Amino acid sequence: LARGVTEPDLRGRHVVVSAGGTREPLDPVRFLGNRSSGKQGYALARTAAARGARVTLVSANAGLPDPAGVDVVRVGTAVQLREAVLKAAADADAVVMAAAVADFRPAVYATGKIKKRDGQDPDPIVLVRNPDILAEISADRARPGQVVVGFAAETDDVLANGRAKLARKGCDLLVVNEVGEARTFGSEENEAVVLGADGSETPVPHGPKEALADTVWDLVVRRLA
Ligand code: CTP
Ligand code: CA
Repeated sequence: LARGVTEPDLRGRHVVVSAGGTREPLDPVRFLGNRSSGKQGYALARTAAARGARVTLVSANAGLPDPAGVDVVRVGTAVQLREAVLKAAADADAVVMAAAVADFRPAVYATGKIKKRDGQDPDPIVLVRNPDILAEISADRARPGQVVVGFAAETDDVLANGRAKLARKGCDLLVVNEVGEARTFGSEENEAVVLGADGSETPVPHGPKEALADTVWDLVVRRLA
């Protein structure tokens, strides 16, 4: 069992975790992406499995080995991630959106490699909005009592932005952490505050991503009971 957990308190539960970062293709060789490593989502999947849950991990470009005893669904883009998460969420007790989902994708996909031409400026890249998966899942719960958790990486006014985002998304819990180029991305550790729709605030001290994951599951279990 996971650190500090004395009973398999997620036994009989199905949980869905998204992890990694989506890639939005421009042409067959290029994409718009982000710095998410997938480590926090994988830690959530591992700890949920250790606590007895059936786990579906929807993994976007993470490049990490499949955790033992977890169903892994690999996706590339935000649209693919939405499809996979909605499908798995249909019978899920909890959904945790740890993936970094691209807010925008290129409006057009060039089926051939984009070439430069001498003396000619490049075409601008036109972007369109991707669907907001967390807001959609929160608004249309696949089952009553399903617990929905989001993540937010903020660089400024972390708590105020986090509260506003929690309200906007309509999820039950939002894990907020402060990021910068040298902080969190790719690291083994994390520091965060978990905000609850009930007004609660749970600080998680700097530590391994498993410890943050276990705190998230503690808060989920309390809401499932
Ligand atoms: N998210 C999502 N679908 C999107 C964008 C984000 O489901 N199209 C989810 C992420 O997985 C995360 C949460 O929403 O759990 C917050 O992501 P974030 O990028 O912080 O929120 P945004 O609403 O996109 O706000 P911002 O403009 O600050 O990027
Ligand atoms: Ca975003």
